[in-house]
Amino acid sequence: MRFPLLSVLGLSSQVPLQSSPGPAMSTQDSFQFKQGPDVFSPKDLVELGRPGVGAANQAGDFVLIPYSKYSFKEKKNKKSIFLAPLGYTNKPYELPLEKVGEAFWLTGKTIAHVVEGENKTLDIYALNVVYVPPNESDSAGILNTESPVHLGSFPTNSATNFRYSTDGYLVFSDSVYPDGNLSTVKAQDEAWEDRGTTALVYDHTYERHWDHWVGPKDQSLFSVKLTQDPDHKWTFGNDYVNLLAGTDHSSPVEPFGGTDDFDVSKQSVIYTTLDPAFKHERAWHTRQNVYIVDITGSGKARELTSGSQGAIHGPVLNEKADKAAWLELDEDGYESDRAKIVIYDLKKNVRFTLTQKWDRSPGSLAFSKEGDFIYFTASDNARVKVYVLPIPPTPAKSTTDPDLSQKYLHPVPIVEDGASSGIQALYYGRILISKSSLTTPNDVFLISGLDALEKEISKSDAPVKFDGKIEQITKFSEEDLKGKELSVGEDFWFKGAEDRDIQGWILKPKGWKEGQKKAYPIVLLIHGGPQGAWEDQWSTRWNPNVFAQQGYFTVAMNPTGSTSFGQALTDAIAGDWGGKPFVDMQKGWKYILDHFPEVDADRAVAAGASWGGYAINWIQGHPEYNFGFKALVCHDGVFDSTYNGFSTEELFFFNHDWHGRPWDEESKELLKKFNPSNFVHKWSTPQLLIHGSKDYRLPETEGIGAFHALQQQGIPSRLVIFPDENHWVLNHGNSLKWHYEVFRWFNQFVGEKKSE
Ligand SMILES: *[C@@H]1O[C@H](CO)[C@@H](O)[C@H](O)[C@H]1NC(C)=O
Ligand SMILES: *[C@@H]1O[C@H](CO)[C@@H](O)[C@H](O)[C@H]1NC(C)=O
Ligand SMILES: *[C@@H]1O[C@H](CO)[C@@H](O)[C@H](O)[C@H]1NC(C)=O
Repeated sequence: MRFPLLSVLGLSSQVPLQSSPGPAMSTQDSFQFKQGPDVFSPKDLVELGRPGVGAANQAGDFVLIPYSKYSFKEKKNKKSIFLAPLGYTNKPYELPLEKVGEAFWLTGKTIAHVVEGENKTLDIYALNVVYVPPNESDSAGILNTESPVHLGSFPTNSATNFRYSTDGYLVFSDSVYPDGNLSTVKAQDEAWEDRGTTALVYDHTYERHWDHWVGPKDQSLFSVKLTQDPDHKWTFGNDYVNLLAGTDHSSPVEPFGGTDDFDVSKQSVIYTTLDPAFKHERAWHTRQNVYIVDITGSGKARELTSGSQGAIHGPVLNEKADKAAWLELDEDGYESDRAKIVIYDLKKNVRFTLTQKWDRSPGSLAFSKEGDFIYFTASDNARVKVYVLPIPPTPAKSTTDPDLSQKYLHPVPIVEDGASSGIQALYYGRILISKSSLTTPNDVFLISGLDALEKEISKSDAPVKFDGKIEQITKFSEEDLKGKELSVGEDFWFKGAEDRDIQGWILKPKGWKEGQKKAYPIVLLIHGGPQGAWEDQWSTRWNPNVFAQQGYFTVAMNPTGSTSFGQALTDAIAGDWGGKPFVDMQKGWKYILDHFPEVDADRAVAAGASWGGYAINWIQGHPEYNFGFKALVCHDGVFDSTYNGFSTEELFFFNHDWHGRPWDEESKELLKKFNPSNFVHKWSTPQLLIHGSKDYRLPETEGIGAFHALQQQGIPSRLVIFPDENHWVLNHGNSLKWHYEVFRWFNQFVGEKKSE
């Protein structure tokens, strides 16, 4: 269950904090978070500004950054767009916009802004930026924007994911009915609403996906003319071309696909779609194909993939549009297979795999401006790093394992700390990235000196080190986090199951004093996936620093199943959900207790979500592990694995990880062994269950079932349901309530140090 790790930004939140429900709450209503000027409290987390990913203009002298900030006082999520001039003072300016929508670059000095208008129309504006660089008397520089010019309106109010081609075409995605026609969407929406019933009827999967019931519409890609005449006047066309018309393609791919699922060059659009051969079997296949189509929609889309691949991510075109690249997984039906960079030479029609021999999974790609290097992010040992590889000469024929010399086999690391994203190549040997860490949300960074590095790499096969410049452009959160002393996190390594090296993070609690015996309660955080990882990355949902700031010695391990440590560790959890990960965690737990006498093992608690919630339910049924937890928290976790194999929406996930469908022989054997609901008779630890009713991955009955098992056995337990949340708690008020319930629960059992 891999998800994009950064939370969805800018969901507006108007829902007030729920008042406390009835009698079950009587014991601890007086609970309060630790807060104050030097504490980073859950409220601070929810109210901290959330910078998005920076996007530079073609010229590479300005960067746009979306930003949102919630205020409990105003009960409002304020969205804004910042603009920073690269290479001057870098000072970010907030654009003076009344309402904020999606913004993107049209030219070096013109921003397009798409925003919902008065009558629910979606309007597009052009906004010219006038920048006066700093001089001696005015050291900050001045940014002015001319008033936005209305260019036109879209036929629907759901157009999104905009990408502008410098040849005068705007490409975007929208959802349409089977006629594929944007102009009929409004009328068909009304007819659908007016159909006289609320029934939803399905002949094939998906019936529901992630957090919504699938309706009659599908995602498609469109292009429309958007041109500037010689006296700078913009014209927005009204001829919307459905680029996927006449195919069974749908792009971006639900539920998380966005602008990463397609790219534009001057004349072409490259995109990925689920393999149309599996149109009616989407729930148990992951294969995606890549196609390229003319930006005008003329001619037929041409497939670039071989037909034997699994999932595809992030197709891109180089500027000359003579090469394409994407990330390809080998295995249909597995979403956590190793992603490999595939290059496609569009002139020679030859496809080859670049990183066949590199045991890491790149996450996003960007060609250098000249097109002879490829920059990419990839997780490595719990960091999301930035790397570069030269692009080798195209082989004579397509191959997944080309014969490559040394320099093509060893990606050169450029940024090695934190978690990088939004990688964009700029002119003059520069790239732009956004980066967060355990101690700060995203900021924009400009990296230069890559022309020298590229030269060095080209010269020979000898190993090369990057020694260019990494410059921080924005400091969005610096002021708000001043004096909070967030922990940067410490790595610890130990030998886990089968003698594998396992990594984890330690975040020492607020006020930590070395040598104080049994002074601090301890929390074990267990990540989801299971093919995921605790990384040096900011999170607005499970933020380890929030636990440390509430006084807990915080341990977050990356046991068997985790990503970023090589494919063998990731793959080793399949068919072994209740096995090796728990050997790892017991050994890691012992390591911590052996090395930190400051930890009070009598005040130990654990929490996890998704697979981490499975782990909590599993630990409940296995007292012989001797963790000694006094309280547990299970958020949207698996309780009955068998039932989950039937009820989840993405069936391929269960089928892969349990070696078959729930009724297949091998799967049935594994379920006997590793289903938490088979062990409820051994449960005894107080447990809090939290579940979102719109979680269709692990439906809410998983939480309710576990609650019933606890209640009937008289084990202290509480159930918190968020009727409007999916697998994640996103609403700001709900997020604060979530933290309140979690820390209140822990506090009830381990808040007070027992007298000895
Ligand atoms: C919105 O609709 C109303 C009523 O039809 C109309 O008077 C008004 O001019 C419209 N506003 C815009 C910006 O089109
Ligand atoms: C410096 O910039 C300010 C503000 O743009 C402007 O008024 C002033 O004339 C400039 N001074 C010089 C010496 O260019
Ligand atoms: C889309 O629908 C409109 C309105 O019904 C119609 O005029 C137009 O011809 C249709 N376009 C296509 C490509 O079918």
